[in-house]
Amino acid sequence: MSDQPKLQQIATKAEFSRRTAHRFVAGEEIPEAIDAVRQLNQKGFTATLDNLGEFVSTKEAAVAASDEYIRALDAIQASSADSNVSLKLTQFGLLLDEGACEQNVERVVVRAREQNNFVRIDMENSPVTDATLRIFTNLRKKYDNVGIVLQSYLFRTEKDIQDMLQLKARMRLCKGAYKEPPEISFKKKADTDANYVKLMKILLKSGIYHGIATHDPGMIQATKDFVTQERIGRDQFEFQMLYGIRRDLQNHLIKEGYRMRIYVPYGHEWYSYLMRRMAERPANLLFVARNIFRG
Ligand code: FDA
Repeated sequence: MSDQPKLQQIATKAEFSRRTAHRFVAGEEIPEAIDAVRQLNQKGFTATLDNLGEFVSTKEAAVAASDEYIRALDAIQASSADSNVSLKLTQFGLLLDEGACEQNVERVVVRAREQNNFVRIDMENSPVTDATLRIFTNLRKKYDNVGIVLQSYLFRTEKDIQDMLQLKARMRLCKGAYKEPPEISFKKKADTDANYVKLMKILLKSGIYHGIATHDPGMIQATKDFVTQERIGRDQFEFQMLYGIRRDLQNHLIKEGYRMRIYVPYGHEWYSYLMRRMAERPANLLFVARNIFRG
C-alpha cells in the first residue's frame, strides 16, 4: 500500500487519515514537531526529528529537504529541545546524483556540528545500501557527529557492522522495515531476531555509543541481560522507539532508568511512513477503522 500513488492521494485528503496519522506523526510543520519533542523531553525522553519524505525526483526538492533540516536544527537550538535529526538519503537526491546528495547532507551535518548536535542517516531498502554506506563513510571520515542505521534482517549486516566499527561509527540497530528478497534477507522472524541479538552484542561490546531500536520485548530483555552481564552502564547506549508505538514500554524503560530516544516523524508526506507502520502491526488497522467509523 505504501507504493500506491492513487491510494495515497485519496488517503492524504481524507480527514480520517489525518487523525490516524496523528497517533504516529507529530504534525506537518516544524513548530508542531518541536512541541511534541518538548513534551517528550518533559517525560525524560530524548528525541530524533525526521522530516518525512523519500525518493525525490528533482534536484530542487533535494536541496529543499536540506534547507528544511537546517530549519529544523535551528528550531531545536532556539527552543532548547533535546533532539537530534534523522534523515533519508533518497530525500536528499541519492537516486539523482550521489555527489550532490552527499553535499546536501554535508550542509546539514556541518550545521549540526556548529550546534553540537548529531545527524543520523536512516537505512532504506537494499538497492541503496551500498550508496548509503559510501556517503556515510565519506562524511564520517570528516565529521564525528554523524551516525548510520543497520538492519538485522539483511545477511550482509554483520560484515557492514565490522566495517563501520573500523570508522568508530555510532550505529542504530533495527530489524529493517522494507520488503527484501529471500536471497539477501532472513524471512523468518526468529532468524531476524537471533541476528538482532548477535549484532546487539557486537555493538554494545565495542565501547561506542549505539542505539538499540526496537519495540520487541524479547530484544529489549536480551539487551538488558547482556548489559548486566557485561557491566555496561546505562549511559553507554540508548534504546530507541518510534513515536506513538508501545508507549507503555517506552515509559517503563524510562522508569527503570534506561535512556530512551523517540523517533519523531513530521511533515506532509506521512502516507508511506504510516503504511509501513500498518504493515508491521495489523492491529493498527483496527485503530484506523475506529477512526473511520467515528467519523
Ligand atoms: P517487531 O516488528 O518484531 O515487533 C515486536 C513488537 O513490537 C510487536 O509485537 C508489537 O508489540 C510492537 N510493534 C512493532 N511495530 C509496531 C507497530 N508498527 N505498531 C504497534 N506495535 C508495534 N527501519 C529501517 O529499515 N530503517 C531505518 O532507518 C529505521 N529506523 C528506525 C528507527 C527507530 C527509532 C525504530 C524504533 C525503528 C526504525 N526502523 C527502521 C523500523 C524497524 O526496522 C522495524 O521495522 C520496526 O521497529 C518494527 O520492528 P521491531 O524491532 O519493533 O520488532
